[in-house]
Parts: sequence; C-alpha cells; structure tokens
Amino acid sequence: MGEKRHFDTLAIHIGNEPDTETGAVSPPIHFTSTFQQDGVGKDRGYDYSRASNPTRQRYEENIASLEGASFGIAFASGMAATTALFQTLVNGDHVIIGRNTYGGTYRMAVDVLSKHGFEFDFVDTRFLDQVKDSIKPNTKWIFVETPTNPMLELCDLKKMAKLSKDHNIKLVVDNTFMSPYGQSPLSLGADVVIHSATKYIGGHSDLIGGVLITNNKSISEELYFIQKSAGAVPSPFDCWMLLRSTKTMGLRVQKQSDNAMELAKRLEPIIGVDSIIYPGLENHPQHQLAKQQQLSPLGDPIYGSIISIKLGTVKARDKFLSKIQLFTLAESLGGVESLVCIPYGMTHGSVPNEIKTDMGLTEDLIRLSVGIEHIEDLYNDIIQAIEK
Ligand SMILES: Cc1ncc(COP(=O)(O)O)c(C=O)c1O
Repeated sequence: MGEKRHFDTLAIHIGNEPDTETGAVSPPIHFTSTFQQDGVGKDRGYDYSRASNPTRQRYEENIASLEGASFGIAFASGMAATTALFQTLVNGDHVIIGRNTYGGTYRMAVDVLSKHGFEFDFVDTRFLDQVKDSIKPNTKWIFVETPTNPMLELCDLKKMAKLSKDHNIKLVVDNTFMSPYGQSPLSLGADVVIHSATKYIGGHSDLIGGVLITNNKSISEELYFIQKSAGAVPSPFDCWMLLRSTKTMGLRVQKQSDNAMELAKRLEPIIGVDSIIYPGLENHPQHQLAKQQQLSPLGDPIYGSIISIKLGTVKARDKFLSKIQLFTLAESLGGVESLVCIPYGMTHGSVPNEIKTDMGLTEDLIRLSVGIEHIEDLYNDIIQAIEK
C-alpha cells in the first residue's frame, strides 16, 4: 500500500474503478432488482437490490472514504437516514438533539418517534453545560448539527465527543451544512456522521438522498441491517449520479464558500453587523471555533455557503424576494445554483413559533445558499434587491 491519498484523489478513484467486464471508465449503472444465482444460495455477491447493489456499493465506498471512514450506508433521503439511525433505539431510550435542528428532524422526533416511546430533549448545543445537564441514565445518542440551519450556531465537536464518551453515549453529527469537504466530525471523535446528500454531495439540486457514515463496525452492521429491512434505499441511478457528483464536490464547495465569504464581507457594512450571520465574519460570536473546526482537506478554514440576513421587516423581506433574480426562492441548499429561502415559514414551518422566537429565528430572516455563479453578478443582484 502506498501513502495515504488525498480527498480529491479519493473522490475521483474510490468506487470509480473501471468496470471489470468491459473496461468502461465510467462505472455502469446496475439497473436490476434481482441477480441470477448459480445454484440455490449460490450468488455472486448480490441477490436483491434492496439488500445491496453494485452501483450503490461503489457510491457507499466513495462517500465513506471522503469522511475518512470505512462504512457508508446510503438511504433514499436525509430523513430516511435519520430515521434509520433512530431505529437503532429501543422503547424508553432518550436522545438529546440540538434545539436549532433541521425542521424535518424535529418533526420526525416529536410527531412520529415520540409516539413509539422514544424520548427527545432539544438543547442549545453551543453550551456544553446545557447538554451535560440534559443527560439521563437512558440517553443513547447526542445528535448535533454544526453549524445549524439557519442561525449558523456552532457546536464544539471535540468537546462534545469527549462529553459523550465520558457518559458512554454515542455522538452523531449532521454534517450536511459543511459537507465532507468542509468538516470531518469522525476525526474529532464523533461516532456517526449523517448527511442529506440532497445538498452538497449531490450538489446540483437534482436528486434526494441521505447517508450514514461510521468507523464503528457494530454500528455499521446494525445500520446495514436496518437499510435492508426497512428498504429506504436510493435507486441505482441516484447512486450513480451521487458517485459522479462527489468527483467535483471539492471544487464546488470551495468555490461556493469563497463566494459566500466575499459576499458576507461586502454585505456586512451595508446591512449592519447585527443583521448578517456568517461564521466567516470576525463578528460572528463563534468565529474562532469555526476557524479551528471547519477545515478543508488542505487544512484551511472554510465557512460554508450559507449566509443568513435580517432585513428588519416582512415588508422589506418580501420586497427583496420580489426583486432578487439570481437567487431562486426554494427550499434546500448546497447546489451550484444560488437559492433563497425564508426558514420561518419554509424549512422550519413545522417548528412551533415559541421555539423559533426563542432561538431568534424571525419572520424577516432570509437564508441565502450561495452557488458558483460569478461573484460580481451575485453581489449586484443582492444590492439591487436591498436598495431602498
Ligand atoms: C441539516 C439537514 N439535515 C437533514 C435534512 C433532511 O434531508 P432530506 O431533505 O434529504 O431528507 C435536511 C434537509 O434540508 C437538512 O438541511
């Protein structure tokens, strides 16, 4: 074995080995539900595509390698991945979730899984003491997002991993907002990473997917078993699209983040320091943590492509939406095309208003997902949309 390979090389080569049958450099898509067996119980490694499929396996190997892991378990959506993780719980188990979690995770926990006897507490994971105080004898998972959506609050993963280990609790990190390129939770001590692959991993707003990634063999076995048993698997075509997309993930995410950093710097004096949230800005209360924790494979700080701004009133917000041209009003984020969203009524529509108010998520908050368009065009578009 040679030296340890770099992110960009892994992205291109792992799972992308030429087809052994034909030599095709671009791997084939195995569109099949079932596989011929050479005798009863004698298959060639695959028997039924819900259980495993060669295209899915290629993608799982690829994405696991990008998080520095041995096991990747692919699902049909980010929420299917989250649900699979919670299916490892038994009646009476308790989970601590970041209070500013994705609205769908909140809905799944409160409106679905609570009915099945699982307990959830929503805690501000910026503060270790609050998490510590919420630990109970039956706590099995701590589930954090960092940075959070859309308030861009950070959780110190190294400290959270230590706290989890000290209490024999597993830590899962929803790494959707940074992508495997921008943050490596497993290397900081997390047990499992989850992604909505719909976002940066897919990167082109053309599919829905999710993935769980871990180095823990026994957790991976449990998750593969749930994947096969529950069957929320992605199609071979989506797996192929994802395998194709990860090849450019480094280029895309770096460019998106560079664009966002530049926009945030230029917008801060215009919109006002209190009305723009971006971890790359020195005024962000957790800028130093972002600088240490969010690192590209080159070891450079990277701050992501999400910027949240507050224009003060719903009227100003709606005027912005009516004037903006290059940012499409839509849910989701992380694609090459810029999007704008109003989390209060869109991504966080299912979160009770009191909770939103508590975390400072107001109706005028606009979330920008910055794409790879030319920086000057994006800047000019925002400026004309906020002009009085
Ligand atoms: C942070 C985060 N986690 C999970 C999800 C759920 O993923 P999906 O929409 O692919 O089911 C989303 C979706 O927006 C998200 O933003």
